[in-house]
Amino acid sequence: MNIPLADLKAQYHTLKPEMDAAIQSVLERSAFILGKEVEAFEQGFADYIGVKHVIGVGSGTDALRLALEALAIEPGDEVITVANTYIATCEAITHVGATVRLVDADPRTYNMDVEKLEEEVRSWKLEVGKCKGNRGRLRAIIAVHLYGQPVDMGPIMEIAHEYELKVIEDGAQAHGATYKGRKVGTFGDVACFSFYPSKNLGAYGDGGAVLTDDDGVAERVRLLRNHGQKAKYEHLVVGYCHRLDNLQAAVLNVKLPHLDEWNAARRAHAALYNQLLSNVPGVVTPYVPPNVEHVYHLYVIQVPNRDRVQTALKAAGIETGIHYPIPLHEQPAYAHLGYKPEDFPVTHALALCLLSLPMYPELTDGQIHYIADTLKQAVLRG
Ligand SMILES: Cc1ncc(COP(=O)(O)O)c(C=O)c1O
Repeated sequence: MNIPLADLKAQYHTLKPEMDAAIQSVLERSAFILGKEVEAFEQGFADYIGVKHVIGVGSGTDALRLALEALAIEPGDEVITVANTYIATCEAITHVGATVRLVDADPRTYNMDVEKLEEEVRSWKLEVGKCKGNRGRLRAIIAVHLYGQPVDMGPIMEIAHEYELKVIEDGAQAHGATYKGRKVGTFGDVACFSFYPSKNLGAYGDGGAVLTDDDGVAERVRLLRNHGQKAKYEHLVVGYCHRLDNLQAAVLNVKLPHLDEWNAARRAHAALYNQLLSNVPGVVTPYVPPNVEHVYHLYVIQVPNRDRVQTALKAAGIETGIHYPIPLHEQPAYAHLGYKPEDFPVTHALALCLLSLPMYPELTDGQIHYIADTLKQAVLRG
């Protein structure tokens, strides 16, 4: 048996006639740049998430960069995010010239530890008070909904309100997830999504979106994504070529109506995994707090002897992943921040024991039983 971590081919085959027709239609019209498919997707995704504006952009990374720039975050500013995330969250901060500040992850949810966030914000205030000029202006928090699980937005919004900070939600892994009954992407000043092919809502190439209720921010992102252009060859600001391709929007329009049913299938798979792995010694299945609906972009467990277990699964035809093997604060790219591995002990420890098991809507119960049995044997062998 060969089971991939994610199976994009299986999904294509369930949608083939409709998908082929949608792509063919774009080709026949040769409507490649900012056509009606992009407009339809922006409206459809805005209605789905429940926001006023969606602006389609080239990737999730572009979305984060444009969001920060539209919020006027610039050199001399500081932005706080979590050490346990994909590097793109931090890259965007660096790209606008601001300084990255990290906080540790919560040991149960693996998302940002909101108490550590509060400590970081308070210590910034104290330092600024003592030695004026040494620290930048603290401007924003990027709240990441990692693996498909909403981060604890209530306390984050309270801290942001108290200290007058902007909040950017990174929903790249959490399309359709809810926190207290509301979809992620509706809490912060701006939200960013990725449509990288393997995401819960994935294009057939790169794609992303910026979401906001703020007319001014939406207007700036629209300008910035398309060379600062208001009308053809009239450039109000220096912008970028960060548009969502019309072909990718056509793909996303076919997929969006299926997102809820796919997320429900992912949740059912997670429930079966949880049940089958509940008595495997040393294995920790995902903790989901009350009032949160996880969409399992990834099904991530803690497992003893992780590397040996991963090798055994591979030998049995089961592909797994590690998200992420080197935490951000230990990456060469961010060595200049001066963090030590032990500065974020939870993130450091998680990198050594987390394992992502196959997760995609088309996965079968039989495959999940096979994965769970193989994993159990590998763990018991030690
Ligand atoms: C948490 C997170 N943020 C941002 C991104 C960046 O998205 P993209 O790959 O579309 O640039 C990703 C993509 O993997 C991600 O997982």
